[in-house]
Parts: sequence; structure tokens; C-alpha cells
Amino acid sequence: MIKRIALGCAGMLLALGVGAVELSDKQRATIEERIKPVGEVCLQGDDSCGGAAASTGGSAARSGEDVYNSACMACHATGAGGAPLMGDIAAWADRIAKGKEALYSSGVNGVAGTGMIAKGGCMRCSEQEIHAAVDFMVSHSQ
Ligand code: HEC
Repeated sequence: MIKRIALGCAGMLLALGVGAVELSDKQRATIEERIKPVGEVCLQGDDSCGGAAASTGGSAARSGEDVYNSACMACHATGAGGAPLMGDIAAWADRIAKGKEALYSSGVNGVAGTGMIAKGGCMRCSEQEIHAAVDFMVSHSQ
């Protein structure tokens, strides 16, 4: 029983756990109920704890696939304006050979004189999201 309480709340409440040896079931239930929020906050797992702390109001970066589907597909799934098709290994080989940084730069800044405009026209996309979209396209084109 001590173990249960102590486990639920780790070190900090160990002292309380020791003191709780003589408590009745009802008292123990009351304490467990009272400390539950603490236990949940601390122990719910890094994902939810960290996730809640890290989220800054719903503006989480979208995945490369999401960005591709909304901002890149129009050209890269049709070949519009001479865009290399996603999945066209031959069309991408020379581009991929330039290195990831060059492709990221093309994605963010565009390719001068071509239909590849900066960020594919997605001005609200962060650089990070464009990089993710480039990664997504490249990983499906080699
Ligand atoms: C309006 C059409 C259009 C849209 C939208 C578009 N692209 Fe492109 N993209 C092109 C064209 C055309 C090229 C070929 C440019 C060239 O001749 O090198 C290209 C080439 C690229 C290349 C290769 C550049 C290089 O250096 O070889 C990358 C990477 C790329 N696009 C990423 C993206 C990403 C990421 C998006 C979405 C955020 C996107 N594109 C949206 C037209 C588009």
C-alpha cells in the first residue's frame, strides 16, 4: 500500500507514504484522490507533459506530407511548368546529387527563372515545413 502511493507520486511523496501506514482505507483513498492530479501531471508520460508544455497555441509545424499536399502537389504531381514529378527517380537523381542543403534552399528561395517560386508560393509555410516537404518529396523520389 505504501508502495502504491509512493509509486504514484515518486520521491517527493515517499515521506507521506511512510506516514500513511496507519491510515484507514477511506483516508488512504482520500489522499490518493487528493494527490492524483499531482501524480498525473508528473507521471502521465513525457509525451503529454512535454507536449502540453511545448505546444504554443496550436501552431505546431505540419508534416512534410501535409505541406506537400497543400502547397507542392499542384506542380510536383502534374509536372506543371516542368516541375520534377514526385516519384520520378530519373528526374530527381541529378537534383538529389546536389545535396539536401541545395534542395532546401531551392524549396525556400525558389529556383530563379523557373516556375519554382519561393516556398512553392506557400508564404505562411515556415522554413522548417518547407524542409519537411522537400524531405518528403525526396524520400519518395529515389
Ligand atoms: C507553381 C509550381 C510549383 C509549385 C507549387 C512548387 N514547385 Fe517545386 N519546382 C517547380 C518547378 C518548375 C521546378 C523545376 C525548377 C528547375 O527547373 O530547376 C521545381 C523544383 C523543385 C525542387 C528541386 C530544385 C533543385 O534545386 O533542383 C525542389 C526541392 C522543389 N521544387 C520543392 C518544392 C516544394 C517543397 C514545394 C512546396 C512547398 C514546391 N516545390 C512547390 C514548380 C513548383
